[in-house]
Amino acid sequence: MIPREVIDDILSKADIVQIIGSYINLVKRGNNYWALCPFHNDRHPSLSVSPSKQIYSCFVCHEGGNVFTFVQNYEKISYIDAVKKVAKMIGYSSPSLNVEQRRVDDATKGILSCLKDANEFYHYVVFTEAGKHGYDYLQSRNIDNEMINYFSLGFSPDNGDITIRQLRGKNHSVDEIDQSGILIRNANTFSDRFQGRITFPIYNEYSEVIGFSARKIDNSSDDAKFINSPATKVFNKSAILYNYQNASKEARREGYIYIVEGFMDVFAFYRAGIKSCIALMGTAFTSEHAKILRRLNVPLRLCLDGDDAGQHGILLMTKILDEYHISYQIVDYHGDKRDPDDIFNQDGKEKFITLVSKLIKKNDFLINYFTNRHDLSSIDGKKDFLDDVIKNYSSFSDDIEKKLFLSQVSSLVNLDISSLKELFKDKKVDDAFAFGDFRIKKQKLTKIENSEQHLIRYMLQSMEAVEYIKESSIPVFIDDIYNLLAKYIIEYKSEKPDIDIKDLINLIQQTGGDQKMINLLISISEMKDMSPYSRKSADEYIDVIQKNLSDKEFLNQFEDAGKKQDPLLQAKLLDMRIKKKRQ
Ligand code: UTP
Ligand code: MN
Repeated sequence: MIPREVIDDILSKADIVQIIGSYINLVKRGNNYWALCPFHNDRHPSLSVSPSKQIYSCFVCHEGGNVFTFVQNYEKISYIDAVKKVAKMIGYSSPSLNVEQRRVDDATKGILSCLKDANEFYHYVVFTEAGKHGYDYLQSRNIDNEMINYFSLGFSPDNGDITIRQLRGKNHSVDEIDQSGILIRNANTFSDRFQGRITFPIYNEYSEVIGFSARKIDNSSDDAKFINSPATKVFNKSAILYNYQNASKEARREGYIYIVEGFMDVFAFYRAGIKSCIALMGTAFTSEHAKILRRLNVPLRLCLDGDDAGQHGILLMTKILDEYHISYQIVDYHGDKRDPDDIFNQDGKEKFITLVSKLIKKNDFLINYFTNRHDLSSIDGKKDFLDDVIKNYSSFSDDIEKKLFLSQVSSLVNLDISSLKELFKDKKVDDAFAFGDFRIKKQKLTKIENSEQHLIRYMLQSMEAVEYIKESSIPVFIDDIYNLLAKYIIEYKSEKPDIDIKDLINLIQQTGGDQKMINLLISISEMKDMSPYSRKSADEYIDVIQKNLSDKEFLNQFEDAGKKQDPLLQAKLLDMRIKKKRQ
């Protein structure tokens, strides 16, 4: 249990703009910050974050809350975990939090320590006689000692038996070495899967070694160029990004991160002085990658190889990034088919930096990509071009961009802009022309609910209203959700007469109140231009509720009073009902 005072203290110290801003992109407009809402499929920023109230709310899907609800709902974790997470993010410590290391079971611990030991061993070997030809190979590729250390590169001895003996000497069992993905079982012996290769350790976000990739040093042999760890308890191929452990820190500082295909490309960027660079390791980009990168909250710079495979990879990647609302730019290769490593080696640092600094948006990328792949002098070519562009384009960030794009396409295929608009519309793709936020319709409130909302609003605004409703001789609220909300407000105000919405939300959360109630509370607190509380206007709303009760609702109230053995209340309810029927 975390004491309530500690939770309240964390809440008062956390800044919602900073915390939400570490998950999604926020832009300041007026007093508030705005973002694409992560809780529905948003096209235009509809989530607002208020630094003064320390709450957020989406005017489209009506999700809202405080810093804890955001972290909880975004990460899909429990309330307590969200509290701990926020505490960690703001560097808050308290013994009661015991924001401990992430919990891993003993088997996993063993595997991680085995991988760590293996990595230290390989790294040691590369500087010894047994690793000399590995070291020479690295030199031949312009990888100096500083880089060998930074990336913790190594060499697995030609005789793979040595690695296994080394690890067993460190108290790792054969089974553990096997589960770490290092061991190969021969007829009578064991050997190291990576023997005779340069080793590239691969880390997770906690900077723990989770596996290896290993490159052959003899290009003339027929062996696979790289051998990677097999899937293990800790090595999940589709979620790995090479150099993430270093680059994620750099990215926050630099405000961007490059994504390339291979190790050598990461090294080329490093030599150019750009450390904010990660590699996909030759695999396809997945939604798991997207989820990791979304957290970084910096625009990506896509720089896969210039060849067809690389450029096609970019095309596929943009679809996933669009889906996850991750912003990105694309390095414009201008038809150069090389990879970053070759470009650096052949053209030198200056030209390399110039090339990777030339960034374009998706729409320009699409036009370049498909003009190079279709013959625009033929009707069929134009048709295919148009088909492909329409199929792959995404929405535009602004009107000017949209117009420019349309006029570009229009002049390429010789088609007027209004016909183009038609075509884009018919495709029913991610439509930037159909526009308009799809708004999750706010249901029209019943007379009863409308009154209940106004009464809650009074309670938020005025202590007198709270007293008045609390002391009412008849039940004021019909719907459970308002009834409960009123109870929360009464409880809150018994301690603090002025409502701070973020604290009230926290109270609701602490006692297991649900998100629906929090959303409701926020929308009521944001009702505009309303009359202030008076006893008379409260009575009017209470009256509206009584008048509009259905027979069933009336009976419920009547029976409740019966259960409470309150004949006086029963008589009163009956009396009001009869009067109402007569009206
Ligand atoms: P590349 O073939 O482009 O390798 O594959 P590279 O990084 O340029 O390496 P050099 O210059 O030939 O030495 C890109 C990435 O794909 C993965 C590796 O992560 C590599 O860096 N890959 C490639 C494999 O996992 N296995 C392979 O057999 C080949
Ligand atoms: Mn390459």
